[in-house]
Amino acid sequence: MPSFRAPRGTRDLLPEVRVGLSRLESIARSLSVRYGYREIETPLFEQTAVFERGIGEVTDVVEKELFRIAPRTEESESWALRPEATAGVVRAYIQAGMHTWPQPVKLMLTGPMFRYDRPQAGRYRQFWQWNCEAIGDPGPAVDAEMIELGWRFYAEAGLTDVQVLLNSIGDAACRPAYLATLVAYFRGHEDELPELERRRLETNPLRLLDSKDPAMKALVAAAPKISAGLCEACESHFAAVRAHLDALGVAYRISPTLVRGLDYYARTAFEYYRQGAEGQQQALGGGGRYDGLVESLGGRPTPGIGFALGLDRVLLALAETGVAPQREAPPLAVIVGADPADTVARLRVASLLRAEGLAVRAELAPRKLSRQLETASRDHAHFAVIIGDELADGHVQLKDLDAGTQRLVPLAELAHELTRAAASHHHG
Ligand code: HAM
Repeated sequence: MPSFRAPRGTRDLLPEVRVGLSRLESIARSLSVRYGYREIETPLFEQTAVFERGIGEVTDVVEKELFRIAPRTEESESWALRPEATAGVVRAYIQAGMHTWPQPVKLMLTGPMFRYDRPQAGRYRQFWQWNCEAIGDPGPAVDAEMIELGWRFYAEAGLTDVQVLLNSIGDAACRPAYLATLVAYFRGHEDELPELERRRLETNPLRLLDSKDPAMKALVAAAPKISAGLCEACESHFAAVRAHLDALGVAYRISPTLVRGLDYYARTAFEYYRQGAEGQQQALGGGGRYDGLVESLGGRPTPGIGFALGLDRVLLALAETGVAPQREAPPLAVIVGADPADTVARLRVASLLRAEGLAVRAELAPRKLSRQLETASRDHAHFAVIIGDELADGHVQLKDLDAGTQRLVPLAELAHELTRAAASHHHG
């Protein structure tokens, strides 16, 4: 047993897993270019108030799951590791004066998020998201474009059975009346409410609809639905989002109890699930409209919408579906030498080829040539470059490890020869 281990709820992404995450990141980047999202980075930690005001103080994410950074001195500000990206991105939008840019400002970010939650399958304390935000467009068309973008990501990643759960949770005009109805309903059942939910009834009643407690299932099912209480503006916004999604052919289902776990949402709310896997810890991603967020972080009133897709969960789902995992590319060639002691020559040739953009490994162990060649096959390299006496007049042996053939090549042409040979290998 090693003395040190990765902290509970975190894990090392070993190379064979990291390459899968890199693949997802490159799909995300490719889609971002196609859909016009520009990449941004924000710090991994922010002033705690950014999350408290942005996400909401009475949310699980802020109340229980925030990784707070203990200040070293009395006068230090209070910071926390980011549990999600939206609050930080909106803080950056305000700080950089992005309201003067052409609207909407479409931003994307991939990176780790931190939530101090009880670890379990699909729930980590450090996890990776792909996050997209379109700030400055009231929708509804951009809502559908956003939802379709996330949906396309899963398809391109290799998950073809992902559907969207969709709801509208109203806005400042109609939600208060709905909340009053909801509170009255649950008050009528107060003695059936578990302790936590009774407290939530006072602090954040909407969250009761999203309760994880099995005892709440029947009560939630019979609760008044926000869809019945939407104002006209929210109702027509919602109808237009659906019409756009229909036109785009996105598979979605209305979920009247979907409310999301963060406080900043208004109107459009959505989550992505694989069909038949719609339980806790199974959301592959989620998002929604946050028309009040910019203002609550100190900016001028600005609408916005976004999503975050959970990349760890996508990797888990891909492993389940048996999609062949991404393999790391082997080196094109391994550089070996007839003289076990002459590592200088091997490194020089390797360096020359690397400068030409080729991926090669120099075998640096002082072993016999035959042993060096064995490591080349173990690496799944296509070629071995064998350095021997011919180097004196500027030649090396190029051995095709698959075909077992070998020929003399001038050093000056080696990079070119390897590039050509690699291309013919790729094309069969
Ligand atoms: P969220 O629903 O809190 O939304 O997280 C989005 C996704 O991140 C989840 O659906 C899940 O796949 C993944 N996720 C969340 N927590 C964990 C965890 N502990 N372990 C593994 N994966 C996790 C947001 O974060 C919002 N910022 C989305 C958004 C962007 N809304 C508007 N713009």
